[in-house]
Amino acid sequence: MGANKITVVGAGHVGATCAQRLAEKNLAREVVLIDVVEGIPQGKGLDMWESAPVEGFDTRLIGSQDYEPAAGSDVFVVTAGVARKPGMSRDDLLATNAKIVRSVSSEIARVAPDSIIIMVSNPLDVMSSVAMDVTGFPRERIIGMAGVLDTARFRSFIALELGVSVEDIQALVLGGHGDTMVPLVRYTSVGGIPLTHFLDDDRIEALVERTRKGGAEIVGYLKTGSAYYAPASAAVQMVESIVRDKNRILPCAAYLQGEYGQEGIFLGVPCKLGTGGLVEIIELELTEEETTALARSAESVRSVLAAVS
Ligand code: 2OP
Repeated sequence: MGANKITVVGAGHVGATCAQRLAEKNLAREVVLIDVVEGIPQGKGLDMWESAPVEGFDTRLIGSQDYEPAAGSDVFVVTAGVARKPGMSRDDLLATNAKIVRSVSSEIARVAPDSIIIMVSNPLDVMSSVAMDVTGFPRERIIGMAGVLDTARFRSFIALELGVSVEDIQALVLGGHGDTMVPLVRYTSVGGIPLTHFLDDDRIEALVERTRKGGAEIVGYLKTGSAYYAPASAAVQMVESIVRDKNRILPCAAYLQGEYGQEGIFLGVPCKLGTGGLVEIIELELTEEETTALARSAESVRSVLAAVS
């Protein structure tokens, strides 16, 4: 068993899928699912709990409108907010989601002042800053989910292209969660062999481009919402590294204080996650081209942040 209690805020597709995966991996004694819509978290939570005898997990699932059952949670996964529709960018969600994340964050600080927040609501780089402002939590305890998802997409596309197992593909995507994300091809390997051994530059660029637009590709199909299976998997992997103290190195949105030449924003960088949340930021030497791309990504996060504050 991992944590005592994990709370997922937002019982939509991402939140519910997170709760299901957290329970099926037995990552906590209790998972609390919170949503403003009456009955939805209770119904989904109970339905998941009724699957426990078949799936074989002992995590209790509880649905609630208010935050009292979440008191003392070790980790919160914040998924509350509206999702994208076709034609919308993640930044179009800004005003609505900022308001929601402000109110969620103040409830979290009230009932669980020592908790760790994994921010999933978009635009997550900026929503992480909003949560930090409201809660006053240190950067160790607010981490945004994006890099694991973007990296997973990149790895899944490489696996399809090469007809190899996803298990053997290692990749690293830095920067903001948007069109300016920076997939580091140099750090992408297949069974330890550099990706450039298998694919020429044009094919690699096509996969990078598909990764950048990975979220929009799903929105294009779903029409009424955005992706949730892969986003939920990514968030749960981060939670697992924290509550099982695995010290995995995963790309996450962390609050930078000078690392990578950036200050005062959340940006996707390689992070070690373990007990306490963010254990360490790994600073890599970047090429000039990568540095420029990361700076461009940081600028785009900064301009969205300016719009919200
Ligand atoms: C995505 O990339 C929703 O931002 C999320 O699918």
